[in-house]
Amino acid sequence: MISVTFVCLGNICRSPMAQLIFEKLVAERGLKNSFAISSFGTSDCEEGNRIYPAAKKILLENGVEGEHIARQISLKDVINNDYILVMDSENLMDILRLTGGEFGEKIFKLCSFTANPRDVADPWYTRNFQKAYSDILDGCKSFLDYLLLHKQQAFEYDSRH
Ligand code: 4NP
Repeated sequence: MISVTFVCLGNICRSPMAQLIFEKLVAERGLKNSFAISSFGTSDCEEGNRIYPAAKKILLENGVEGEHIARQISLKDVINNDYILVMDSENLMDILRLTGGEFGEKIFKLCSFTANPRDVADPWYTRNFQKAYSDILDGCKSFLDYLLLHKQQAFEYDSRH
């Protein structure tokens, strides 16, 4: 079992998009039972709110279903996950502030797994939800490819038990 949590600022646009996209990719590979997938915000500004309508719309246009209620990440959530995948440099700084600089070995920017490492720009400000979707999809696919290549034992173990 590999636990993955996606993190952005508000947890109503990018990280719930990443959670639902990654859940779909994993299900398509028949690997649902090998993962615990979640998402959080670094801030509590949207706590309790559903996915932002423009983000929800682009997900549905691309056949990605599901809902999420926003919540703020705590140190416990960092400790309890194998991978903390943030969207941008600001998220990374906020998480490292939360951990006091610890757990850096499992905290990554999502698009650091792609051939073109970059931030996922915040569509709350850019209004470009299509670009956010494409960047997140690229990041999720590349991260899953990385796991399939480097963490093969985890999947073999899960398929035997
Ligand atoms: P997200 O976008 O971090 O991708 O969920 C945001 C959503 C809400 C706010 C900022 C960013 N806000 O300031 O309310």
